[in-house]
Amino acid sequence: MSALLCLVAGAVFTYVAVYYGLFRAARCSWSGTLSGKTAIVTGSSGGIGKATALGLAQRGARVVLACRSQEKGEAAAFDIRQESGNNQVVFMHLDLSSLKSVRRFAQTFLQTEPRLDILVNNAGVMSPGRTEDGFGMALGVNHLGHFLLTNLLLERLRRCGPSRVVTVAALLHRLGRVDFALLASRKDLVPGESTWSSFRAYCSSKLCNVLFSRELANRLEGTAVTCYSLHPGLVYSDLGRSLSVWLQLLLLPLAKLFFADAEGGSQTVLHCALREGIEPLSGRYFSSCALQQVGAPGRDDAVAKKLWEVSERLTGLS
Ligand SMILES: NC(=O)c1ccc[n+]([C@@H]2O[C@H](COP(=O)([O-])OP(=O)(O)OC[C@H]3O[C@@H](n4cnc5c(N)ncnc54)[C@H](OP(=O)(O)O)[C@@H]3O)[C@@H](O)[C@H]2O)c1
Repeated sequence: MSALLCLVAGAVFTYVAVYYGLFRAARCSWSGTLSGKTAIVTGSSGGIGKATALGLAQRGARVVLACRSQEKGEAAAFDIRQESGNNQVVFMHLDLSSLKSVRRFAQTFLQTEPRLDILVNNAGVMSPGRTEDGFGMALGVNHLGHFLLTNLLLERLRRCGPSRVVTVAALLHRLGRVDFALLASRKDLVPGESTWSSFRAYCSSKLCNVLFSRELANRLEGTAVTCYSLHPGLVYSDLGRSLSVWLQLLLLPLAKLFFADAEGGSQTVLHCALREGIEPLSGRYFSSCALQQVGAPGRDDAVAKKLWEVSERLTGLS
């Protein structure tokens, strides 16, 4: 009997230790006000993006929910207005899988909104398929769409400085690689179309997020705009929706038990968007509301520079 009790107590202790120690995100403690500031959060119809938008709205910011689905985006804006008591939360259409849509969003935003203080590049997919412009989905949505968006909004961010660009990457960037020959020949980060390829493309697109932030910081040196990339923690969300049903069923109990909720996942995003004093760390990578060492492929400045130049060509910026 006592052995059984010990076993149960041990299991509970291990669960709590793993949950709090490894998976549960740290908290963003910033308690200032964002009144008079404007933020954009991409992919804020649900998951980490919606929780981030709520965190910004609760602190008084005007928040633009940049989402691909009008129905989901407007429902999220309604929820956030209700929960935060902040009426300055609006939906604006943005489909990152279409460069035309990114340009249209930027044009509408610049024409209708006088300020931009915080840009959160959050939207992400791990799904197969191609974007409207023929890019692999993860490359197109996670990296190229955000690359173009940020560049089109950079002048406004500069004018409103001190301002920030926060890009939600992932720990999985460590498994990514950028094959420039493949990028040129296939407009993709991987050679195949299988579920495994989608996963690898996701990891590589997250590496692109880290490299993008690194090179952006170099280019912004001497301005009042700073930028950061981050891992939000392991978060229970819809990200794995394109995985096979069997894989989803297998992962579900694990995710339910150990992963943080979306609010927990928004904490490092909010930390990077709000925490004073991290400006000298522009271009660096965060996790659990603290600076972290980026994986080896994310430290290659030559690759970061080349990726920037290739991305400029692919998005029609050069
Ligand atoms: N969950 C995790 O454990 C984890 C770990 C590391 C990093 N991340 C990163 O965290 C970010 C948020 O992910 P999440 O976990 O919150 O996943 P999620 O619940 O699936 O949210 C992703 C968001 O991106 C939006 N989106 C997808 N394709 C889009 C497009 N073409 N244009 C505009 N928006 C689009 C989705 O909109 P719809 O609702 O219309 O599909 C949704 O709002 C991603 O960048 C992901 O890579 C997540």
